[in-house]
Amino acid sequence: MNIVTTVDELRQQLKDWRQSGDHTALVPTMGNLHQGHMGLIELAREHAERIIVSIFVNPTQFDDDSDFERYPRTLDRDKARLKRAGVDMLFIPEVDTMYPFGTDNATSVSVPILGEEFCGSSRPGHFNGVTSVVNRLFSLVQPDVAIFGQKDYQQQIIIRRMTEDLSLPIRIVTGETVRDDDGLALSSRNQYLTEDERTIAPKLYAALQVIGNELQAGKRDYEGLESAATKELNGAGFEVDYVEIRRAENLNPPNRDCDELVVLAAAQLGVARLIDNIVVSV
Ligand code: PAJ
Repeated sequence: MNIVTTVDELRQQLKDWRQSGDHTALVPTMGNLHQGHMGLIELAREHAERIIVSIFVNPTQFDDDSDFERYPRTLDRDKARLKRAGVDMLFIPEVDTMYPFGTDNATSVSVPILGEEFCGSSRPGHFNGVTSVVNRLFSLVQPDVAIFGQKDYQQQIIIRRMTEDLSLPIRIVTGETVRDDDGLALSSRNQYLTEDERTIAPKLYAALQVIGNELQAGKRDYEGLESAATKELNGAGFEVDYVEIRRAENLNPPNRDCDELVVLAAAQLGVARLIDNIVVSV
């Protein structure tokens, strides 16, 4: 595995691959890799001859400095894991490489509306940070394909919109959410949970499944389903931020005839903010 930190090294390697006709798939991450990330890497293999993983804890997408500082960094373990998985290149840029004029003066890309609701409204500026850094990674790597997880549903919808709106010649592929045996979606933030909270955490996915079953049984009282789940979760010890049923395609509010829905939820449990979603065909 070729580990690169500078733009020059990156470009040289990419040029060599392009000359030999190899396609590239990029899997952007912030490191602290778990099976969810590794699933995306396996998926990348189906789409390109060369896999590039980036690890960059992006300062512009964190709401506060302490959240950024305490974000788990496990670079040595991540490197070993990526090497075993047969990744071709690991790109680990410094902040100065990603933001040569500094983060405060950086050119930014934002997707209005989609980036401002749900997680965007409780974390103002978060998605601007995400789209800005993903756009930079896309410019640097110019991959044929980029892989994102369904776990962060709103994020992948926003990235699809950005890519289409800017006519970037990159195919966005979404990999399914990888879960623990009890249903909890894998996340770097799960390690902030206490032992007690960890036993409560799977209730988030369970609440989504209850809504999914009701929708499949023909229920269309979306608000009623959302508020019942919110009540259930708040009663179980969560502090619910939102539970929302939306059109899977674009996150618009659904009418009664929509056949592809997504149920999205975010809730605070202790210091951890957990998010999850399920897609339901009705
Ligand atoms: P990070 O949280 O490290 O996630 C990297 C990728 O892994 C994202 O596409 C995310 O959706 C996916 N992922 C995380 N947990 C997953 C799970 N349990 N199952 C499947 N996929 C999962 O998301 C980010 O980093 C950043 O915002 C980034 C896109 C890298 C921009 O900085």
